[in-house]
Amino acid sequence: MPQAKSTMAEEVLLKELPPSPEPEEAPCPEAAPQDIPPPPAPPGPQIPPLFVVMISPELAPVAKVGGLADVVFGLGRELEMRGNAVEMILPKYDCMRYDHIYGLCKTYENLWVPWFGGAIHCTVWFGFVHGRKCFFIEPHSNDSYFNRGVIYGQQDDVLRFAFFSRAALEFMLKTGKHPDIIHCHDWQTALTPVLLYEIYQHLGMTHPRVCFTVHNFRHQGVAGSQVLQATGLNRPEYYFHYDRLRDPANPAAVNLMKGGIVYSNFVTTVSPRHAWEAKDGGQGHGLEHILHVHQNKYGGVLNGLDCEMFNPETDRHIPASFSADKIEGKYENKRALRHRFWLADNEKPIVAFVGRLDPQKGLDLVRHAIFYALNNRAQFVLLGSAPDKPTNDHFWGLKHHLNNSPDCHLEIGYNLELAHLIYAGADLMIVPSRYEPCGLTQLIAMRYGTVPVVRSVGGLADTVFDKDYSDRPLHERNGYVFHQPDNAGLESALHRAIGCYYHFPDHFRNLISNGMRADISWKHPGQHYLNIYDYIRDK
Ligand code: ADP
Ligand code: GLC
Repeated sequence: MPQAKSTMAEEVLLKELPPSPEPEEAPCPEAAPQDIPPPPAPPGPQIPPLFVVMISPELAPVAKVGGLADVVFGLGRELEMRGNAVEMILPKYDCMRYDHIYGLCKTYENLWVPWFGGAIHCTVWFGFVHGRKCFFIEPHSNDSYFNRGVIYGQQDDVLRFAFFSRAALEFMLKTGKHPDIIHCHDWQTALTPVLLYEIYQHLGMTHPRVCFTVHNFRHQGVAGSQVLQATGLNRPEYYFHYDRLRDPANPAAVNLMKGGIVYSNFVTTVSPRHAWEAKDGGQGHGLEHILHVHQNKYGGVLNGLDCEMFNPETDRHIPASFSADKIEGKYENKRALRHRFWLADNEKPIVAFVGRLDPQKGLDLVRHAIFYALNNRAQFVLLGSAPDKPTNDHFWGLKHHLNNSPDCHLEIGYNLELAHLIYAGADLMIVPSRYEPCGLTQLIAMRYGTVPVVRSVGGLADTVFDKDYSDRPLHERNGYVFHQPDNAGLESALHRAIGCYYHFPDHFRNLISNGMRADISWKHPGQHYLNIYDYIRDK
């Protein structure tokens, strides 16, 4: 089990190293609301180029459920632009967007992955996803782990992804890959560091160090001892120890996310505010204690946004391009959005919601916002899909109820291209989350000149600064924020936002401009991750 070094995690996160080579592609405009503190003098040595392997259940746009997919793609690209070698390993799902994979071919035909005392035969494929080098693991067994038509939501999810973690390591071992850093994401890949330090290190993989990023503490991968048996972690009494994988709430279960935290060399979550919330603010979903134990290797790194994938000047999914200096195109997109959804062409602002219809997103407040907007001279559009049937049915009911409104359209489903049109065409984006480790929708909205109205939680609190009440300088204020997650709280912010749209268009325009000009790219977070990699790597 790796030991935390004595230096505090915070020092690593805040350390600014000398600039890396300039990226080839244009970064987002400057003037950041998220500037990291000035570099401590004197600067440390230059970090040499690193070999980083990302092991992830999602990657935008080919296998995307939520923001995790965007983060893995965006961080991967940033690291590559800084001269590092980056490879991704994913499951080969049947439901991937194969139209976004270039040059897909078999690269390793006979990978035998140890499983339940036997082994499963796998084929490994290689392909490029918008320039990222990706390996896709395809198991051949009756379980058809990744041929389920969906990415998550299966009864055997824990086994499916435990298998994936073991397969990724077996692939690296057999192909002689010795990355400096293995970067794992969420509970689905949390067994990787456990397997690395308990099994693969003894087979010769002594070089890699592991960074584990928790995107969402609500899903931890909790299961019975079968998962240990399956993956070859054969001493249950050892792994069930409270300091290792035993679930804090259920003594008969193991908790994969906890294992990832214990065994990784560094653990991050996706915003500084949420790092505090999870450890000390009661939002760690039972993992508070283990975060305290490992606090010397734990911290928050605010997500960035891939400013090429989300770029209103070049986006092929929207009919008109635009920028902070040429905002007219945005209103062509607004017209196109109305046309697409049969909405009236009037003077009203469009309030939008894009996201998973999951309780963490504050669905009661989303519902309230629809009626509040319609009663207060605004239009409303929603794009969302629910993982469960009752929520789906509820929103379908709402859709039928509002079907005749010329000011409202609810699109129930998942549609990557349509999401871009909504970000570009709407005026306001609501994000009334109850729980939000970072949130990307407010960042994408800002990039497309859509003013965010958010609840002050997690990464939303770290990225949206209230026009009227923030203590930030005026040019950094970029939206509206409310604190109490109730109807009155939401109304207080939405009322001000709609009022500003009608009565102070110049101020509204400033908010648009401040959001579009802020540096929300991967530039700073990319440097933070490199600092972490450099701190933990085998030197
Ligand atoms: P989470 O990861 O919790 O779902 P984020 O705000 O971090 O939330 O990221 C959500 C990402 O998924 C964004 O890129 C958003 O545009 C996208 N998204 C969510 N729901 C949909 C949908 N129904 N259709 C298209 N894109 C969606
Ligand atoms: C998770 C979180 C979200 C975050 C995303 C990417 O799904 O719910 O807040 O933005 O991961 O890190």
